[in-house]
Amino acid sequence: MDNHKSYLKTLESNAIKSLETLQTLEEIENWRIEYLGRKGKLSQFFQSFKDIKNKNKNELGTIANDLKISLEQYYKKKINSIKSSKLKINEIFDYSLPGKPNISGSIHPTIQMMNEICNAFSSLGFNIYEGPEIESEEYAFDKLNIPSNHPARDIWDTIWVENTQELESLLLRPHTSPMQIRIMEKYPPPIRVVVPGKCYRYEATDNTHEWHFHQIEGLVVDTNINFANMKSTLFEFARLIFGEQTKARFRCDFFPFVEPGAEMSVNIKDDEWLELMGAGMVHPKVLQNVNLDPEIYSGFAFGLGIERAAMIRFGINNIRDFYSNDFQFLRQFN
Ligand code: FA5
Repeated sequence: MDNHKSYLKTLESNAIKSLETLQTLEEIENWRIEYLGRKGKLSQFFQSFKDIKNKNKNELGTIANDLKISLEQYYKKKINSIKSSKLKINEIFDYSLPGKPNISGSIHPTIQMMNEICNAFSSLGFNIYEGPEIESEEYAFDKLNIPSNHPARDIWDTIWVENTQELESLLLRPHTSPMQIRIMEKYPPPIRVVVPGKCYRYEATDNTHEWHFHQIEGLVVDTNINFANMKSTLFEFARLIFGEQTKARFRCDFFPFVEPGAEMSVNIKDDEWLELMGAGMVHPKVLQNVNLDPEIYSGFAFGLGIERAAMIRFGINNIRDFYSNDFQFLRQFN
C-alpha cells in the first residue's frame, strides 16, 4: 500500500513540475498524452490496480481518482493561461497599424542648393575649390583693389578677428572674392573655377539679409574673354537652376575689383526681382596685383548668394527661416 501511495505522490509532483515549464500548446498536448492519455501513466496505474491485493484498495482508488481530477484541472488551467497570454500579445501588436518612422537627418537646403549650383557650373566646365573662412585684410580687400581708406569697404561690414599675435589683420571673410586672388596666384590661365563657402557680415538682418550666409564665387580668366561670355554663362546657369523660362536681368553696379560691374537679378513673379549676384569683368588692377598682364588676359568674376538662390527656387520669402532650426521648415527639404 505505502509503495503505491508513494508512487502516486511522485507521479503527481513530477507531472505538476514538468507542466509548469511548458510553453506551447503542442508541448502541453504531449504532456496530456503522457499522464492522462489512454496509454498514459495514470491509465497504466488503473490497469495494474485490479492485480493489487490490498485491504486498502478503496482508499488507493480514491487517491488515484482525485489525482486524475486534479491533473485534469491543472491541464485546463495551463491551456487557458497560454491562450490568454497569446491573446495579450496579439492585443499589444496590432500588425495592421503603421510602423513608427525612424527620424533621420537630411542635407540642409542651403547645402542642397550649393551642391546643385556646383553641379550646374561643373557641367559648364568649371572646377570647384574651397578657401579659408578666416581671411587676411590683404586678400579680402587690398589685393581686390579696395585700399584701407576706400569708402567701398563700408559695403562689407566686417567682423574682425581679435589677433593676439598682431601678425596681420584677420577677419571673417565678408565675401568669397578673396579666393579670386588666391586662385590666380596659384594657377596660371586658363582659369574656370567656382568657390562655394560661408561668409559673415556685421549687419542687421531682414528678410533677405543674414549676418552669416553662403556665396559661390566664380572666376574665368583667359585670353579674349568678354562681357558677352559672362552674360551667356550666367543666363545659362540661371536656366539650369531655375528652369528654361527664367527671366534674369543685368543692371549696372559698382565693385572696385571689376570694371564694368553689374548685378544680376532673377524675376520671382510679375515685376518682383531678387538680387542674386554681383558680377563684372576682372579689373585690370586686380590682374596686375597677381602679375597677369591685362593686355593679354581678361576675365569675368561673379559672387552669388546661395540662400538667395534657394529662396527663388523654393519660394521662401524670409532668409532667417534657414537658420532658425525650425523642424517643420527643414522637413520640407528631406
Ligand atoms: C559681393 O559680395 C561681391 N564680392 C560679389 C562680386 C563677386 C561682384 C565678383 C563682382 C565680382 P554683394 O555684397 O552684392 O557682392 O553680395 C553678393 C551676393 O551675395 C548678393 O547678391 C546676395 O545674393 C548675397 N548676399 C550679400 N549679402 C548678403 C546677406 N547679408 N545675406 C544673404 N545674402 C547676401
